[in-house]
Amino acid sequence: MNPSLSELQEQATQAIAGADDLNALDQVRVSYLGKKGAIKALLKQTGALAPEERRPFGQAVNALRDAVTTELEARKATLQAQAEAARLEAGWLDVTLPADTPRVGKEHPITGLLREVTDHFHGLGFTVASGPEIEDAFHNFDALNIPANHPARDVWDTFYTEEGGIPRTHTSSVQIRTLEKATLPLRIIAPGKCFRNETIDATHLAAFNQCEGLFIDKNVTVGHLKATLEGLVERLMGYKVPTRFRPAFYPFVEPGLDLDIECIFCKGSGCSICKHSGWIEVIPCGMVHPNVLRACGHDPEEWNGFAFGMGFDRMVMLRYGIDDLRRLYDGNLELVRGL
Ligand code: DAH
Repeated sequence: MNPSLSELQEQATQAIAGADDLNALDQVRVSYLGKKGAIKALLKQTGALAPEERRPFGQAVNALRDAVTTELEARKATLQAQAEAARLEAGWLDVTLPADTPRVGKEHPITGLLREVTDHFHGLGFTVASGPEIEDAFHNFDALNIPANHPARDVWDTFYTEEGGIPRTHTSSVQIRTLEKATLPLRIIAPGKCFRNETIDATHLAAFNQCEGLFIDKNVTVGHLKATLEGLVERLMGYKVPTRFRPAFYPFVEPGLDLDIECIFCKGSGCSICKHSGWIEVIPCGMVHPNVLRACGHDPEEWNGFAFGMGFDRMVMLRYGIDDLRRLYDGNLELVRGL
C-alpha cells in the first residue's frame, strides 16, 4: 500500500478507537469519509496521476475507504451497546423489550369441580339446595335415623359450639331441611362445608366439603341410583371408569352402598394409593330409609328414592392427582400438579 495511505489508515484506526461517544465518532467519520474528508481528497488527486498509476491508486483508496467504513460501523455498534447498557442501568424504560407474561389467576379446583357437578346435575333436572352450617341434633342426626343413644353417632367426630350447636358433620342434614318443606317429587344436590374433629393429615381435614344428593319420586330403584352415579363419575373422570357397588351401613339409607371406581392411578393392578385393592371408594349412597321420609312428614308407602354424599375434596384429589389435601388450602396452588 502507498505509504501515505497506510499512514492515513493508521490514523483513522486510532481516531475511531479514540472516539468515546457517538458524536465524536461521527466527527471522525466526516473527517475521513465526508465530502471534504481526507479520503475524498485523495480520490480527487487521482486525476493528477500518470494514467498507469490511476487504476491501482483508485483501488487502494477504495480499499482504504471500505476498511475505514467497516471500522466505523464496528465502533458504532460497540458505542450503541454501551449507551444502551448505561441507560438500562440508570433505569431507563426500554419500551421495545418483550413484556413479562402476566401472572393470571386460576379457578380453585374445588370451585371448578363444584361448577362441573352442578352443571351435570342441572342437566338431569336437579336443583341446588342449601342449609345452615351450624345445625341442631334433629337435622344432623335424629331425623336421619340416628337415635340419641345409638353408637352410630360416634362415627361422626362431632364438634359442639358453646351454645350447643352442631357444626354439621355432613351435608345429609340438608336432605332433612329440604324434605321438611318440599312437595314431592324432588331432585336436589347440596354442596357445602362440613366439620369433624379429625386429626389433620394428607387425607383428612377438620373442615371439608361434601356434595349431598337426594332423589325422591315413585318407584325409584337401585338402577336409577346406579345409572345416576355412574354417569357422574364418568363425567368427572373424563372416561368410562369401571365401577362397583359394595354393601355398606349408613343409618339413613337401606340398603346402604359404597360406590368404588377402579383405581385411576394403577388402573386396577394395585398401588399404594388404592392400598393394593385396585379400587377407590368415591361415593357413599343408598336407598332413602323410610324413617327419614317419615320424620319429614312424607309417606314412605307412596314415595321412595336414593341419596348420596360425595366427599368433595377427595374427588378433587383424584381428578387432579393431588396427594395431600392440605395443598388445596395452602394458597400456593402452583404446587398442585396439573393446574
Ligand atoms: N353422610 C355420610 C357421611 O358423611 C355420607 C352418606 C352416605 C350420605 C350415604 C348419603 C348416603 O346421602 O346415602 O359419612
